[in-house]
Amino acid sequence: MIYELNHVGAFVKDAEKSVDFYTRILGAQVVREAMIPATNTKCIYVQLAGGMIELLAPGDLSSRSVYGFDHVAFSTDSIDRDFESITAAGYKPLVQPKVAGSGHGRIAFLSDPNGVRIELIERDDTYRKPEKTSDILSFDHISLLANDLEAAEAFYGGQTGMTVLKRFYLEPPRDLTMVYVNHGYDVIEFLHRKEPQAGDLIGHIALRVANVDAMAEKLSAQGVAFEPGSPKNAGTGLGRVAVFRGPDGEKIEILDRSDLRDL
Ligand SMILES: [Fe+2]
Repeated sequence: MIYELNHVGAFVKDAEKSVDFYTRILGAQVVREAMIPATNTKCIYVQLAGGMIELLAPGDLSSRSVYGFDHVAFSTDSIDRDFESITAAGYKPLVQPKVAGSGHGRIAFLSDPNGVRIELIERDDTYRKPEKTSDILSFDHISLLANDLEAAEAFYGGQTGMTVLKRFYLEPPRDLTMVYVNHGYDVIEFLHRKEPQAGDLIGHIALRVANVDAMAEKLSAQGVAFEPGSPKNAGTGLGRVAVFRGPDGEKIEILDRSDLRDL
């Protein structure tokens, strides 16, 4: 059974640069470092508030053409059974259960109905540590493009055990449906428009701070470049948001509304 959303995985070009960005600039803690010898890839878990990002830095940069967010990983206590039942339900298998490249535990990959790569992990340690105090109050959500919203809700609700936390609909011209599903602390946001959208399947991660404008000023002073138009009022009317990018172009949003569970 799947019992938690463990991490969002990202491929990065320069491990040192990414670790510096997430720890020194954003206040994350490194909770695990390992090597995947078969592909000469460094694997570093950084924890931001209560959420984790897995940074994967290949030794050979020509081995990949795409960097940034790559997959969403769930922990299970029975990988063979879950992989079998999820793929039997019609979801596409990508990598059969096997020993993890780091040698620790077993992993498998499959595709969610919108094409997001989903990792299943079975191991004796989730790597998550007690939260460290920083400017990040919580890891608010991981945002996924859900062109087929019904199928996304069926997959995450039926196969991963997540439940709906909140729904928002923003009237035209935005015409945007936002659905939040969670597994305890961990939240996934589905973004859906009537017309199918192109773009990154894992669109961004969102971090909750006390005050977006103050945090944006602090990050700007450390050389972080914000997207044009940031900070701005959130489309939901709840608080302010600002968007910047990590070292490999991964999109990061800061927001200062209440925790979704308290809305
Ligand atoms: Fe992973």
